[in-house]
Amino acid sequence: MITDNSIDTPKQRSPFPLDMWYLAAFSKELKDKPLARTLLNQPVVLYRDLNGDVNALQDRCCHRQLPLSMGTIEEGGLRCGYHGLLFDGKGKCLEVPGQPKVPRKAKVTPYFVKEQDELVWIWFGAEEGSEPDVAPPRYEYHNDPKYVYGGDVYHYNAPYQLIHDNLLDLSHLGYVHLRTIGGDAKTHMNAQMDVESEGDQVTIKRYMPNSTPPPTYVAAYPFKGKIDRWQEIEFCPSHIKIWTGGIDANSGSVTDPNREGFHMRGLHCITPETDDTSHYFWTIATNPVTDIEEVKQKVVEQTRLTFDEDKVVIEAQFKTMKRFKGQPMIDIHVDAGANHARRIISTLCE
Ligand code: FES
Ligand SMILES: [Fe+2]
Repeated sequence: MITDNSIDTPKQRSPFPLDMWYLAAFSKELKDKPLARTLLNQPVVLYRDLNGDVNALQDRCCHRQLPLSMGTIEEGGLRCGYHGLLFDGKGKCLEVPGQPKVPRKAKVTPYFVKEQDELVWIWFGAEEGSEPDVAPPRYEYHNDPKYVYGGDVYHYNAPYQLIHDNLLDLSHLGYVHLRTIGGDAKTHMNAQMDVESEGDQVTIKRYMPNSTPPPTYVAAYPFKGKIDRWQEIEFCPSHIKIWTGGIDANSGSVTDPNREGFHMRGLHCITPETDDTSHYFWTIATNPVTDIEEVKQKVVEQTRLTFDEDKVVIEAQFKTMKRFKGQPMIDIHVDAGANHARRIISTLCE
């Protein structure tokens, strides 16, 4: 008789890449109340303790399983809102009201978190309790005096990879985003696209010389007429950076790393909530040359309109995919970047 089950148990494929930092929250979301958020199918409570440090625990009290997110932040940690057990940031129970001894097993699972650049990152390891072996990504444009930024978190009724697909294919701008960052659809569809892949990353670059500036650009920057436009995307499995912008046509090089002109630097952190739903954290940073606050408001507002348009499209797409489950899809030229990213994720999930 075989007694060791592990011999016959196939290794379970994770629906998400693990051993990775994901964005859990914006710093500004964590004030004086705990925040409940399901991340990668795991219910998590995030809170800022009275020292100002961010902590994350499994959102389940080990006594009678009330979500700890219903509790209160107090000196020492988070107090459960049912019978008052107090847990520190590492999940250790410090106090059981009315009982001198804390049971040895009274603890909840903690997560590694790191707050930097106004972002709170959380580590999801492949092994339970495994420590992070890399630092979370840095995002310098949240601290760069040349830039101002704003952002939001959207809840999506769609799996995370459909959001990746959308961000890695900028040809949709000319169809979905005509009112904001779009522009002539033909220019977008015909723009030369360079795709490079190294390790877990994909870089996609597109340049559109001598094109008409779209409404958002005109509203934010005093362009003289036509512009040379760029779109540079860096994909990592947990986040995507998209640098777009334009300079007056023929006024300089669009590949110069220090180019002037109008810049929009987008950070897109897509953290799966469940297999079929996602948290989409975005920020947009820009470099106003005049009226800093006004330009920032305009750019953030236009970006919001743009991402609202994407949300409608992606959620509708997912609804149809569920309705026609298993139906094949065809690929066209604009899918190259997204397909690279899907291959990377597929390998990481093995
Ligand atoms: S359920 Fe948390 S203290 Fe009882
Ligand atoms: Fe879009």
